[in-house]
Amino acid sequence: MINTCKPRVYVTREIPERGLKKIMERFDTEVWPEYGPPPKQVIIEKARDADALVTLLSDKIDAEIFDAAPKLKIVAQMAVGFDNIDVEEATRRGIYVTNTPGVLTETTADFAWALLMAIARRVVEADRYVREGKWKVGWHPSMLLGRDVYGATLGIIGVGRIGSAVARRAKCFNMRILYYDVVRNPQIEKETGATFVDLDTLLRESDFISVHVPLTKETYHLINAERLKFVKKTAYLINTSRGPVVDEKALYEALKEGRLAGAALDVFEQEPLPTDSPLLRLDNVILTPHIASASYETRSRMAEMVAENLIAFFEGKVPPNLVNPDVVKVRPPPAQL
Ligand code: GLV
Repeated sequence: MINTCKPRVYVTREIPERGLKKIMERFDTEVWPEYGPPPKQVIIEKARDADALVTLLSDKIDAEIFDAAPKLKIVAQMAVGFDNIDVEEATRRGIYVTNTPGVLTETTADFAWALLMAIARRVVEADRYVREGKWKVGWHPSMLLGRDVYGATLGIIGVGRIGSAVARRAKCFNMRILYYDVVRNPQIEKETGATFVDLDTLLRESDFISVHVPLTKETYHLINAERLKFVKKTAYLINTSRGPVVDEKALYEALKEGRLAGAALDVFEQEPLPTDSPLLRLDNVILTPHIASASYETRSRMAEMVAENLIAFFEGKVPPNLVNPDVVKVRPPPAQL
């Protein structure tokens, strides 16, 4: 530490104890006490004398906040995605931004698979069928028929950490794996036999399409009305990345018109999903509230990583999960100042 006064940290939600305890032990910490997110005005107020912010993906962290926060040195996000943070602006101002990659990879891949299996075999629909008293005939040859996963073609859009973990699972299901990314991934090709194809080919040939790209200017509405024209009528779309990667309106139209068999979505253009979303009216859709990384173990580990990033930074080191390395040129970590 460079001085005896503890850095002030504002935490925008109660994060799991394993991380929060470490933060509270080291820093002068204040936590937003409610279950829902703090209004932006509150973050602005709290940022005024904060040295650090701990944020979630639902907090919009932009120039308006940075303008109000002359002491702010680091934004430590508890998520792998950080599209809610204006990283360019942060870098310009010498503010470090960190995230929590790696620890949620397998958990998120598990969940993408849970959605894939559930939509293919109509698990959620079947549960509703039983609960609603519609199960009147013991066994019927054509009751709630789904699609085989084993041996089908899986198209993975984005084979970074999570997309690769999805591919490894697919290999065990004897799937033909196609992938599209901005760069080839020879490692995943070697490990799983995945084939690199262009996006249109992937959409045309896949039985299941799973999206694993970060949200950027380039990936906004990557799956749009035009591209949805390529997909098979019998295909399913799974999205555990970010909602705006898929044009939700175009997806709804495709699902409603039977140009796509179904979709399983954990992320949405607007979260929480508005209660009047037309997607809620479709039976061939599974909707979950952005919980792909939500296991006890993983969320605890994510919170711990947040603490580790903050501690490293205030000990004068480059935090381990820095997403804007150029910031070091603008402002070296505190002990080196
Ligand atoms: C969750 O969506 C995350 O980015 O960690």
